[in-house]
Amino acid sequence: MTVPATLKVGVVGVGWAGQQHIEAFSNVAGVEVVAVAGMEAELLAQLQAQYNIAHGFARWEDLLELDGLDAISVAVPTFLHAPISIAALERGLHVLSEKPLARNGEEGAAMVAAARQAGRVLDVVFNHRRRGDITKLKTIIDDGELGRPYYAKASWLRRRGIPTLGSWFTSPELAGGGPLADLGVHVLDYALHLLGEPKVISVSASAYSELGPRGLGGGSNFTAASANNKFEVEDFASAFIRLEGGVTLVVEAGWASYRDPADLMDFRVYGTDGGAELRVAHSLEVADSGLKIFTDKEEVNADYAAEVPADGNHQAVVDEFIAAIRGGEEVWGEYDGSVALTRALIIDACYKSALEQREVRL
Ligand SMILES: NC(=O)c1ccc[n+]([C@@H]2O[C@H](COP(=O)([O-])OP(=O)(O)OC[C@H]3O[C@@H](n4cnc5c(N)ncnc54)[C@H](O)[C@@H]3O)[C@@H](O)[C@H]2O)c1
Repeated sequence: MTVPATLKVGVVGVGWAGQQHIEAFSNVAGVEVVAVAGMEAELLAQLQAQYNIAHGFARWEDLLELDGLDAISVAVPTFLHAPISIAALERGLHVLSEKPLARNGEEGAAMVAAARQAGRVLDVVFNHRRRGDITKLKTIIDDGELGRPYYAKASWLRRRGIPTLGSWFTSPELAGGGPLADLGVHVLDYALHLLGEPKVISVSASAYSELGPRGLGGGSNFTAASANNKFEVEDFASAFIRLEGGVTLVVEAGWASYRDPADLMDFRVYGTDGGAELRVAHSLEVADSGLKIFTDKEEVNADYAAEVPADGNHQAVVDEFIAAIRGGEEVWGEYDGSVALTRALIIDACYKSALEQREVRL
């Protein structure tokens, strides 16, 4: 099957994520965003004018009916990732889905099966692994500078970061989970990527919902949960994950807890010859932010702050998605969503472990 010189793309969802997709696609030569879908009519019209997008739809089903599309991206609430992606794959379109892959592993597995059946690309937006500090750390680990990593801790924590109460984010039916599914999936993804995709043996997790239901942890106009404003997911979760080779990964993800006010991503890894600590603040300054490497030279500390390249983020994800499509049928099979599915299955196991208060083997 030949790949057209100009790829025609549709973007479903025009919230923060969808807008990143539109901007990123519009920066790629030979890619035309020809359609967008979203329920915010005014915003849709504004984006169509700004990016010269011919078609706008309120419903994703109508966007998929458009003739001539080559690919779509899916940037809608998580419960819609599977139905939209599967419908698009069945029409022979390539799909870039936002994270998390789906609400759970079962839905994710159906997406992967649809990609394989269709023989099309299914890629998932893990933009944080494209950060400059993460790509630098990946090189440092792969070059053996830290020796054999045996312990890692990855967290993303907020003081008052619960997304809008009563929105899809706080409904397990619509989101599949709380901060573990929302933020935890990013740090889980880059931690496993940095560690070289080790097999997961078991998880033992706890999940709490202590602040959200009381109207705490969500900014100034956040109100207590009510019949119409449900808070039914966790607001903090922690997981102890055993990996093959005796390696341990601890993941913490929280929208709200009494802690430093910065919205902070924190990753540390200890290896047999060195360690690394990364601290990234998304809001407010954090004094000791950046990527630090701890190692010895002739038994003397030889620690240093690593210089990191620019962040890739959504643009790097979209560039790779387009390159995969252009790579033709030989490479499409490498992009079937199965890496994202491993993350979904681990998160499922974490929720099961938290619910049943026991270790769950994978
Ligand atoms: N990778 C990242 O850094 C990142 C950041 C934020 C969100 N996300 C992910 O992106 C997705 C969307 O998040 P968001 O914050 O942009 O959400 P949002 O609520 O701001 O926007 C959702 C969009 O989906 C549209 N939509 C909903 N139902 C629809 C339907 N039936 N047909 C057509 N459009 C429909 C809405 O109209 C809206 O435009 C989620 O999966 C989220 O996890 C990823």
